[in-house]
Order: sequence, then C-alpha cells, then structure tokens
Amino acid sequence: MQGREISQAVIQRLPRYYRYLGELLEDGVERISSNDLSKRMKVTASQIRQDLNNFGGFGQQGYGYNVKYLYTEIGKILGLEENHNMIIIGAGNLGQALANYAAFEKRGFVLRGLFDINPALTNTEIRGVKIRMMEELKEFVRNNDVEIAALTIPKDTAVEVANMLVDNGVRAIWNFAHTDLNLPENIIVENVHLSESLMKLSYNICRYNEKHKE
Ligand code: NAI
Repeated sequence: MQGREISQAVIQRLPRYYRYLGELLEDGVERISSNDLSKRMKVTASQIRQDLNNFGGFGQQGYGYNVKYLYTEIGKILGLEENHNMIIIGAGNLGQALANYAAFEKRGFVLRGLFDINPALTNTEIRGVKIRMMEELKEFVRNNDVEIAALTIPKDTAVEVANMLVDNGVRAIWNFAHTDLNLPENIIVENVHLSESLMKLSYNICRYNEKHKE
C-alpha cells in the first residue's frame, strides 16, 4: 500500500468514510457490508468497493468490512495517527473560531500558537494558546516544528506572509484568504472557501426552484 498513488478524487472521499465509520464504531457496530454502508452514505456500493479496494483487501466476501480496522487504516492513510503542529495567522473572527474548535486536536492537529499584528490582542489566550505578535513568528516557527499554518488574514497580506512561512520551514498552508498563493510545488496548499460552497448551494437552490416552478 505504501508509495501507491491514490487519486485525489478518492482522497477527497476518504474523510467522509472516516466520519461514517467513526459513527459506526461509536454505535458498537463491528462489521458492515458495502451495501449497508452504501445505504447509510448514499453512495453506490460499487463506488465504495472500488474506493476501498484502492487500499487492498479490507473487505471479505460474505463478511463485509471490519469497521475498526477500516477506520484505523483510513486514519493512517489520512495521516491522522500522527500529530501535526499547527499555527493560525490572523486571530480575528475566523482565526479565533478555528482556535476555539477543540475537535481538531482529537484528529492530531495540535494548535501551538496564534499570531496577529493587532497589539490589542497581545497576551490574549484562546483555549490556553497565547496570541503572539508577528515579530515573534519566524523564531517560533523554527523552534516549534510547525508543519501547518492556517491563514486567516486579509487577502492583500496573505502572499507575503505565506512566503515568509515557507522560507522558515512551514510545509503546508491551510489557506482561508481569498487569494491564490502560488507557492513552490513542494508546499502543500489546501484552499478553503466557504463562499464557494455557498455558491454551489445557491446554484442547487436555483435549479430546484426552476424544476418546481408551476
Ligand atoms: P478579521 O478582521 O476579524 O480578522 C483578521 C485578523 O487578521 C485581524 O485580527 C487582523 O489584525 C489580522 N491581520 C491583518 N493583517 C495581518 C498580518 N499581516 N499578519 C497577521 N495578522 C494580520 O477578519 P475575519 O472575519 O476573521 O476574516 C479573516 C480572513 O479570512 C479575511 O481575509 C476573510 O476574507 C477570510 N475569510 C475566509 C473565509 C473562507 O471561507 N475562506 C470565511 C470567512 C473569512
């Protein structure tokens, strides 16, 4: 399994499998057939079999999938068994909301620091994590093995800040600023744009309304 390239389309679906399998585990379900999982997830059973076959032999004919095993393996594939040190740049509304969401830590994303330029935020803490000023950032990143930086700052400063982070060893950017960062190829960037999701919703509402117009 190691070293094998898995398509991005499959990777995108894995967190959803992970969530459903986690819920099954919580409900004490030990095994599940692809048909039952298909009904729950509203994905075809063949899609499930195809996706999960990517990782080789998780399912057994007539037995189904071992929920705990599959959950653990998908967790490993998603890198959730390791801790990832994370910082947040921009401790405004969004940055603080992310910092307040304790569940990220359960998945191994450990918030090490928050950074901002607003001196009024100095020494404020969110869930015990201090908000620091940007002047401290370079040294902090170098000394704390920071892997991921979430960017929740205005878009006009995002590119400059992202470059600085990368120059100091940050390997992955979780980008909420509404701009493309154009970083070197070895830097992993995940853009999150809630407004794009909302536009998709809007499109679907319009389509629904069209269909149901008298
Ligand atoms: P906000 O104004 O509450 O917070 C922004 C924070 O960034 C402020 O505390 C400010 O002092 C700080 N800041 C500004 N320049 C900085 C710099 N160079 N270095 C460090 N800190 C800096 O704004 P809010 O609502 O938290 O939004 C933050 C950003 O996230 C905005 O760019 C907004 O457009 C974007 N956003 C993106 C969403 C998405 O789905 N991708 C959803 C909501 C907001």
